[in-house]
Amino acid sequence: MEVSKRFSLYVFLLCFLLPLNSKPTDSVSADVELLLGKIKASLQGNSQNLLLSSWNSSVPLCQWRGLKWVFSNGSILLCTDLSSPQWTNLSLSRDPSLHLFSLQLPSANLSGSLPRELGEFSMLQSLYLNINFLTGTVPLELGYSSSLSDIDLGSNLLNGVLPPSIWNLCDNLVSLRVHANSLFGSVPEPAVRNSSCKNLQFLDFGGNKFSGNFPEFVTQFGGLKELDLGSNMFSGPIPGDLGQLNLEKLNLSHNNFSGVLPVFGGSKFGVEAFEGNSPGLCGAPLKSCSGSSGLSPGAIAGIVIGLMTATVVLASLCIGYVQNKKKNSTEESEDEIEEEEEDEESGSGGGGGGGGDQGRLILFQGGEHLTLEDVLNATGQVLEKTSYGTVYKAKLSDGGTITLRLLKEGSCKDGSSCLPVVKQLGRIRHENLIPLRAFYQGKRGEKLLIYDHLPHRSLHDLLHEARAGKLVLNWARRHKIALGIARGLAYLHTGLETPITHGNVKSKNVLVDEFSVARLTEFGLDKLMIPTVADEMVAVAKIDGIKAPELQKMKKCSSRTDVYAFGILLLEILIGKKPGKTGRSGDFVDLPLMVKVAVLEETTLEVFDVEVLKGVRSAMEEGLVQALKLAMGCCAPVASVRPSMDEVVRQLEENRPRNRSTLYSPTETRSEIGTPF
Ligand SMILES: *[C@@H]1O[C@H](CO)[C@@H](O)[C@H](O)[C@H]1NC(C)=O
Ligand SMILES: *[C@@H]1O[C@H](CO)[C@@H](O)[C@H](O)[C@H]1NC(C)=O
Ligand SMILES: *[C@@H]1O[C@H](CO)[C@@H](O)[C@H](O)[C@H]1NC(C)=O
Ligand SMILES: *[C@@H]1O[C@H](CO)[C@@H](O)[C@H](O)[C@H]1NC(C)=O
Ligand SMILES: *[C@@H]1O[C@H](CO)[C@@H](O)[C@H](O)[C@H]1NC(C)=O
Ligand SMILES: *[C@@H]1O[C@H](CO)[C@@H](O)[C@H](O)[C@H]1NC(C)=O
Ligand SMILES: *[C@@H]1O[C@H](CO)[C@@H](O)[C@H](O)[C@H]1NC(C)=O
Repeated sequence: MEVSKRFSLYVFLLCFLLPLNSKPTDSVSADVELLLGKIKASLQGNSQNLLLSSWNSSVPLCQWRGLKWVFSNGSILLCTDLSSPQWTNLSLSRDPSLHLFSLQLPSANLSGSLPRELGEFSMLQSLYLNINFLTGTVPLELGYSSSLSDIDLGSNLLNGVLPPSIWNLCDNLVSLRVHANSLFGSVPEPAVRNSSCKNLQFLDFGGNKFSGNFPEFVTQFGGLKELDLGSNMFSGPIPGDLGQLNLEKLNLSHNNFSGVLPVFGGSKFGVEAFEGNSPGLCGAPLKSCSGSSGLSPGAIAGIVIGLMTATVVLASLCIGYVQNKKKNSTEESEDEIEEEEEDEESGSGGGGGGGGDQGRLILFQGGEHLTLEDVLNATGQVLEKTSYGTVYKAKLSDGGTITLRLLKEGSCKDGSSCLPVVKQLGRIRHENLIPLRAFYQGKRGEKLLIYDHLPHRSLHDLLHEARAGKLVLNWARRHKIALGIARGLAYLHTGLETPITHGNVKSKNVLVDEFSVARLTEFGLDKLMIPTVADEMVAVAKIDGIKAPELQKMKKCSSRTDVYAFGILLLEILIGKKPGKTGRSGDFVDLPLMVKVAVLEETTLEVFDVEVLKGVRSAMEEGLVQALKLAMGCCAPVASVRPSMDEVVRQLEENRPRNRSTLYSPTETRSEIGTPF
């Protein structure tokens, strides 16, 4: 809010105040004066230009080349009819209600540069200066023109970086073309995150020297029809979400993109759209990614899933499935929902892996639309590997996206021990918990848990990965996140008929949206693993520094060990440091010890992350010190003195930060700190 207000104010100032500020002449329209002055001089450079010489106050306005005009009331000045009085009306250029509407001089032998004053035309909609010899940079001020919708500066000699202000035009922009210039640097991100530039259809950055990663924000431009990034120096992966746009034309050729190509519906783009990139770029229509010769279309789920678990980076979850069996299995799974409550016995008997010759899908509330075929034919990409197995982001044929968790081997063998737990997990619904929508058990015992896919970032990334454009995590936001996590855990511990423990509370398992709502994932999965495998996870938890001292075997996992892990997580939130073994040095970061030392040395305030303290006047009055104490209480070595999660929720609710206004401005991001836009 803050930001967009600032923008529109600036635009407002430029549009309305500047023309008034500039020399008040009652004899000439402000736009005419601009054209005759700075614009003409800048565009023609050092030499006279034939077309621009028509811009002369002794020539009737209608005969000025390359221009279209509009009156303040919105009606266009019609100059087409050579016999009309307008064509020869010499006083038109003195009509103050006339505004420049379009400036189109392609192939006009212009050899100057783009003047900053282009940003001052309040009603200018189209600017076509392509195929000229213009040099210099794209001026920042262009982004302050309030009406521009079509820009083509292609085939000139422009260099420099594209100014970030260009995205100020987002709302009106229909086409933006800068093809074949020498622009360099990375493509700037819109300052307002999530901008969808809803009218934008044509984006052409091809044939420049742009570098850096694929401008991922482009995948938010829902109306985009043509995208050309070809012949630049972009590198890194192409975001999978690009496949979700309704693109008609695409050119990503001749860059250094690598990784797996997104899936474009109907394979509408040929090899030429992607050729000339890193040899590492793969996926249809380029070479297949697996390296192996590919699977026969009839390959069954188990084989492919087996392969996938071995794949390191990205895999295709294309699982051919015998189509004509779909009906049966779908019906079966629908029955399952109805049976679920009263018929646990027969339900678990049927799910016993070896039962039928096909897998089965159990659907839970909110997953009713899923079919076995949908899930097995989904195309997926690996998001991460966790102690429980592999997490995929998968796209359904209807365009929806789901998260799949493929449990690794060592998950419970038979249905009778698995299904009751799965069914319990499938019933859990809470604002701070990511719901399980369906469960698939293949006939070879492979198990997929199907969740909603949320495009949000993990708390771990928010806290530890430096990246422009991420949320500023002030105390108000961190408090809200911590409270959300605490509420989710409290619900698992006391809000259910049969309480369950989370078993793996850590920042990587918390997703945070732009309103700082936290959602926990991976809860209860330890119950699906056989004890020896579950115990390996205890070892991992130890490395991560989230293991309660009494937790030796996963069997011992209890609500109190969850509270311990939450305490460490709360310290991580407050201190901003990763607990446990850190990647590079391998040092063990003991967060509770850090706090103890700081308290002893009376430097308590210094343990807080600097971002937490921003804007906090009194760490005591704002609940910061209380939160630190609470976290330490949760990490008490003796389990019985740790508070319950209900108590944690109560204390966090009692000690709230005072200034919570930032919670309602989700677009404020780190990238804006220090940048003037
Ligand atoms: C405008 O045109 C007139 C006559 O056509 C010419 O004498 C004058 O030099 C021109 N002015 C400019 C600034 O080009
Ligand atoms: C708009 O203004 C122009 C000139 O001031 C006038 O000729 C035209 O008729 C007006 N159009 C409308 C629709 O009012
Ligand atoms: C010429 O244009 C002016 C300003 O728009 C207008 O007031 C005037 O009536 C026009 N003259 C003729 C002959 O059309
Ligand atoms: C283009 O402009 C250059 C000067 O910049 C001039 O020498 C040349 O004659 C112009 N060409 C045409 C076709 O007007
Ligand atoms: C950002 O985009 C997501 C999905 O596209 C949407 O749900 C969310 O409301 C957007 N956030 C803002 C602040 O516009
Ligand atoms: C292309 O990207 C790879 C990494 O994916 C890098 O190693 C290589 O140097 C890049 N090549 C060029 C020409 O930039
Ligand atoms: C992509 O752009 C390059 C140059 O930028 C061009 O040579 C190529 O023909 C284009 N390919 C497609 C499919 O448009």
